[in-house]
Amino acid sequence: MEFIIRQCTKDDVTVLQEISRQTYQDTFSTASTVADMEDYLQKAYDRVKLEKEILNKNTFFYFIVTDRKVVGYLKLNIGAAQTDIKDDFSLEIERIYVCKELHGRKFGAILMNKAIEMAKSYKKQYIWLGVWENNQRAFHFYQKNGFYKIGEHAFVMGKTSQVDWLLRKDLC
Ligand SMILES: CC(C)(COP(=O)(O)OP(=O)(O)OC[C@H]1O[C@@H](n2cnc3c(N)ncnc32)[C@H](O)[C@@H]1OP(=O)(O)O)[C@@H](O)C(=O)NCCC(=O)NCCS
Repeated sequence: MEFIIRQCTKDDVTVLQEISRQTYQDTFSTASTVADMEDYLQKAYDRVKLEKEILNKNTFFYFIVTDRKVVGYLKLNIGAAQTDIKDDFSLEIERIYVCKELHGRKFGAILMNKAIEMAKSYKKQYIWLGVWENNQRAFHFYQKNGFYKIGEHAFVMGKTSQVDWLLRKDLC
């Protein structure tokens, strides 16, 4: 399947907000109450917040587009924009999402390759990310891509508290 990957600009904020909310809800709706989900979707993907993140020089959003439709996206952070480990030698994959109808068609692998390419171009030594401990499909995907567990942290969404595993992939 033909595709392109392109970096998001401020003009993409509407599409970014839509795909972010849709894919997050599709992935995690069984993990929280409806009210917590609604609240999280409003706050985490607030338009002004997303615009600021797009303009942050240490954050990079990419769309993967096929048949002129955005079918997935990637959010990468380096330096101070990283959410947990703020190592100068690391890159964080904060978000990697593909529309649910297209899971298993290697769009995730393509986005992962983009993250690796970025990390290498910024001379980073490793990539890290957090994944919900019960998100088995994503964990399996990361394992296949050479990530291993290095720790855990709590993720709180309203009344819902869950455990995220911290995973790392070394580059060299
Ligand atoms: C995780 C994710 C980005 C992977 O993208 P993808 O395009 O589905 O992945 P790929 O097609 O490259 O598949 C890679 C592996 O993932 C697994 N996988 C993908 N889709 C699957 C499905 N529907 N059921 C079970 N396993 C699946 C397979 O093990 C596959 O390995 P294979 O090469 O042996 O087939 C995607 O599934 C997704 O968006 N999931 C929901 C959002 C999410 O959980 N993001 C991560 C948050 S931390």
